[in-house]
Amino acid sequence: MEEFQSVRGFHDLLGEEAKRFRYVSELIREKLRVYNFEEIVLPVVEYLEVFQRSIGEATDIVQKEMFSFEDRKGRRLALRPEGTAGAVRAYVQNRLYALKPYVKLFYEGPMFRYERPQAGRYRQFHQIGAEVFGTMDPLADAELINLVHEILLEMGIDVTIEVNSIGCKVCRPAHRDALIEYLSGVEGHLCDVCIDRRDKNPLRVLDCKVPTCKEAVKEAPKMLDFLCHECREHYSKLKEHLTNLSIPYRENPNLVRGLDYYTKTVFEAVSNELGITVIAGGRYDYLVEEMGGPPTPAVGFAVGIERLSMLLRSEPKEDPLYFLIPFGEVLDYALTLAKTLRSEGRRVEVSYRKGGLKKQLELANRLKADYAIIVGEEEKLGNFYTIKDLKTGQQIRVQPSPSL
Ligand code: HAM
Repeated sequence: MEEFQSVRGFHDLLGEEAKRFRYVSELIREKLRVYNFEEIVLPVVEYLEVFQRSIGEATDIVQKEMFSFEDRKGRRLALRPEGTAGAVRAYVQNRLYALKPYVKLFYEGPMFRYERPQAGRYRQFHQIGAEVFGTMDPLADAELINLVHEILLEMGIDVTIEVNSIGCKVCRPAHRDALIEYLSGVEGHLCDVCIDRRDKNPLRVLDCKVPTCKEAVKEAPKMLDFLCHECREHYSKLKEHLTNLSIPYRENPNLVRGLDYYTKTVFEAVSNELGITVIAGGRYDYLVEEMGGPPTPAVGFAVGIERLSMLLRSEPKEDPLYFLIPFGEVLDYALTLAKTLRSEGRRVEVSYRKGGLKKQLELANRLKADYAIIVGEEEKLGNFYTIKDLKTGQQIRVQPSPSL
């Protein structure tokens, strides 16, 4: 019979990979808890337009990377490529702005992008995202970057945090004009994609990875030189907060991000080891209004869980495993013992195989147990059990209350 394979770009997470994934997820969720973020569980599918409108028609994600389809009623839907669009849709639809002066939400789950798969890039990947709605204060931006910094520090992942400001409706047009003019002057050095981007989305040219484009934009007009008074103030306050929080960061005037909704602050945490971005975010002060809500400034970020898992160097610690071996007519006693041990939070595996002690201990080793718990007639009668440390070989009797 033919054996099935998973779909290209969609992969199983198992063994150590799954453990690292869970470790990363739990560590981040705990951080979000102490920063008082509230969870929102969002649908994986939204109307296609939710993404087109928020992420932007001219972006790679919307143009080339969406898993979109029509349902049986002809509705145009898509698997979410990211979480911000859905979070904003939910914020507006559920009138969350009416509940609190500001709202801090987080979400976790699979995202889908039709990209070319490679190391650390999948078509189904997982994000944890956090969004703060309802404040313009650069302190919110700084606190998010601080949270990101703490996560990476705790995981021992070596990154550079890059920040930039890409302005607002007031100051962007002048920069855009200057940039288009500059790009027309260096057109001969740009790749075809960038020539096309020049008029549609000129900022994206600054982010192109093609070496000739990179070289050509080195002298391009920088958004930082065009910031209006408000954006300049916002950016300098942010940097002041980052310094006060002792967060090392690098200003990257060419950092622009691949989604259209950003305003003012943008940031990325880039791995120094692999050069890939592991966490990214920024401000999006117009999006809530553009999605039908009241004017509401907002800022957020998302973590790529697989990318962080990939960079983890230490194995997440696991609790010891107890392998319980019943010998003879003692199953009732053995299972009660297993129940007690498990209720104390211990990891217990009851042997499903029959056989002599040697075979059972071999099995315990193959299952990577730390201890074997041996229960026979004698143990049952005396209401105790025998525990063997599989590393040292040391064996002791424990009774009657199982506190190991
Ligand atoms: P993004 O930069 O598109 O931003 O994605 C955030 C993170 O998701 C990336 O830094 C990366 O770690 C991970 N990621 C993206 N694409 C892939 C992929 N194909 N395979 C594996 N990991 C991937 C956003 O999605 C924004 N919604 C972030 C945000 C939230 N901005 C404001 N709020």
